Amino acid sequence: MKKGSKSVIYMTAGIAALAGLLFGYDTGVISGAILFIKDQFKLVSSAVEVVVSAVLLGAVIGAAFSGAITDRFGRKKVLIVTALLFAIGAIGASLAANVGVIIFFRLIIGIAIGVASYTAPLYISEISPPEMRGALVSLNQLMITCGIVVSYLVDYVLSGADQWRWMFALGAIPAVILIIGMIALSESPRWLISRNMIAEARVILARVMPQEKIDAEMRSIQGSLTAKEGSWKELLQPWIRPALIVGIALAFFQQATGINTIIYYAPTIFEFAGFESHKVAILATVGVGVVNVLMTVVAIWFIDRLGRKPLLYIGMTGMAISLGLLGLAFNMPSITGALKMITVLGVVFYIASFAISLGPIFWLMIAEIYPLNVRGRAMSLATVANWGFNAIVASTFLTLTDKLGKAGTFWFYTIICVIGIAFCYLYVPETKGHSLEEIEAHLRKNKGLRSLGLEEAK
Ligand code: BGC
Repeated sequence: MKKGSKSVIYMTAGIAALAGLLFGYDTGVISGAILFIKDQFKLVSSAVEVVVSAVLLGAVIGAAFSGAITDRFGRKKVLIVTALLFAIGAIGASLAANVGVIIFFRLIIGIAIGVASYTAPLYISEISPPEMRGALVSLNQLMITCGIVVSYLVDYVLSGADQWRWMFALGAIPAVILIIGMIALSESPRWLISRNMIAEARVILARVMPQEKIDAEMRSIQGSLTAKEGSWKELLQPWIRPALIVGIALAFFQQATGINTIIYYAPTIFEFAGFESHKVAILATVGVGVVNVLMTVVAIWFIDRLGRKPLLYIGMTGMAISLGLLGLAFNMPSITGALKMITVLGVVFYIASFAISLGPIFWLMIAEIYPLNVRGRAMSLATVANWGFNAIVASTFLTLTDKLGKAGTFWFYTIICVIGIAFCYLYVPETKGHSLEEIEAHLRKNKGLRSLGLEEAK
């Protein structure tokens, strides 16, 4: 690799991953803000759910269009416009005079999040050399968790003064940095070549690789582009189906095991457990966010060493145990004093288990298991599914706790988690150490995914 090019790549990925930070910040900030918005506008449970889920509805819409617009306009322009939307949404929501306006601007932010959740990892993967790609793409998930923790901290610092408006407004700062940063960065060479802008692509590649390697790199990118792009119909072909099912099912299990009821409603859950002040409930939530960041670092360390499946088994077992424990705690009113303790422990253990398993592995696997010519479409479908399930879970959580009770709700998630473990055992492949081409070749032989690597090992 060319001298100094590593720092160019790190900087480029770091700036693009600010989109991940905004994803995390803008989804996390609502957990604290909602406590004050609810009080100020005297909202009932169903109205609270609408405010919380507006972002998610927007994200479904944004993710659905992201594949088409990033191919048409390029990754760079799309990320700049997305950052602009983040800024407009943050300022708009912070100035809102009524709940309707908050919902509208949160919807705009949601669209930005949906587009960013697809485009940032795509752009990063396209500007990274293969040997750094895994770590750099996972940087995006790490930035999501950092964004969540920053939002919790902001919520905590501002919670004394009921300043939910500032909680929203501060989201404009990273958005503006992203706009400026992206203007300074170059377009993805892969996209330029796909648009026949060969000279421009050459200039950009020259920044990160020695002159003599450029021709070979250009040829390999051009080669991969000549593979005919698959249609939506092609996604349903029997040999691709196993990958399609794994991507959508992992999206389901990542969301339907309740992660975002913790991320968005942690302070609310702590208040259920008897924490009196909003401030203390939010402080406990900051701790949860920090654990999420630290355990994501642990996951990145182990993901290529232990492999994906062992992490899924360990993490999801931990999630099931902690969800069961939370249900138990809420089911025994006699333990009121201990309830606080058990709730905090349950939530922390749950988040740590998620962060080493379903958190990063969903986003990583959807970038690994699809054949090249349908990768864009399949990834955006899995992303839409993820946001769709997220919206359903977030918008039903409070209603579920009213109907099933708090214990019943956590046990419901426990059951889904146990089914998820069985699903991983039966259908999820171990992709560790396999090149993307090997995975694709295995699928093409109509062998599904699960047997990946097993024959070779025999
Ligand atoms: C999920 C988000 C979640 C976040 C928490 C991501 O992988 O897609 O829904 O809020 O992890 O860290």
